[in-house]
Amino acid sequence: MNGIEAEVARHYGERNLFERIVAAIGKDEAEIGAADIRAHDEFHIGQGEATERLLDPLGLPPGTKVLDIGCGIGGPARRMAARYGWVVTGLDLTPDFVAAATRLSQIAGDGTSRFVLGSALGMPFAPESFDLATLIHVGMNIADKQGLFAAVARVLRPGGRFALYDIMRTGPGHPDYPVPWAETPAASHLSAPDAYRAAARAAGFHTEREADRSDVARAFFAAMQAAIREGRAPGGPPVIMGANAREKVANLTAAVQSGDIAPVEMVFRKGAA
Ligand SMILES: C[S@@+](CC[C@H](N)C(=O)[O-])C[C@H]1O[C@@H](n2cnc3c(N)ncnc32)[C@H](O)[C@@H]1O
Repeated sequence: MNGIEAEVARHYGERNLFERIVAAIGKDEAEIGAADIRAHDEFHIGQGEATERLLDPLGLPPGTKVLDIGCGIGGPARRMAARYGWVVTGLDLTPDFVAAATRLSQIAGDGTSRFVLGSALGMPFAPESFDLATLIHVGMNIADKQGLFAAVARVLRPGGRFALYDIMRTGPGHPDYPVPWAETPAASHLSAPDAYRAAARAAGFHTEREADRSDVARAFFAAMQAAIREGRAPGGPPVIMGANAREKVANLTAAVQSGDIAPVEMVFRKGAA
């Protein structure tokens, strides 16, 4: 692990995540089913709705081999398996997340997804072994975007797709910290869309689609704030983020509202060899 990776694993990990999710659901582990898990599942703006907006248009068939890079606790992987019949390998740097992903998938009855510990910048997979790679709210933790795109190009088959949904820098200002992916600016590696496009080109990708999803973000934050106002504890990301979750969400919301950052979708296709 390099210094950034150790910092990222420290930031997200060591919080007994699986036990905290079970406690937030409020049932005995033996009684928990897929529907109970869903509210806690996806650690990104817009949760399942945003995942579907990114992936539905791909129209890929059941059996598609997918690598979900920075899979977190495995919610996107479980959604891909259930909704599309894809066979998903999740990769994540944080041991606590890989352990929670594995246990939650067992509970949810997802028998095809598997979860592997490792870094996006040194992936333990054979060349050309996947049809699709996904990256959902992970690039903000990776400074070396060129290295990331080169690593993804290596594991994708020619013609394979890379679909990402990251928070990017879209204005001159910076968010206040902490934010959900970093406690301090030193641990945050936000990039502008241009840096992603340049890294993609250098690794041999062609752009298929790009969309700013600030609309999804505004609706998502409004729903979260309404839940807090009405005394309903919002599930999902706040449970994962730990004690200063509210401060992180407030800083993220303000920075999206000011236009300095935005969640952006990009879909690339790897050129033929
Ligand atoms: C905000 S969470 C998103 C999790 C998941 N994609 C989701 O949307 O639910 C970011 C995740 O990226 C992982 N991550 C960050 N840098 C990584 C890297 N270099 N390699 C693999 N995983 C990484 C973190 O451990 C964390 O689980």
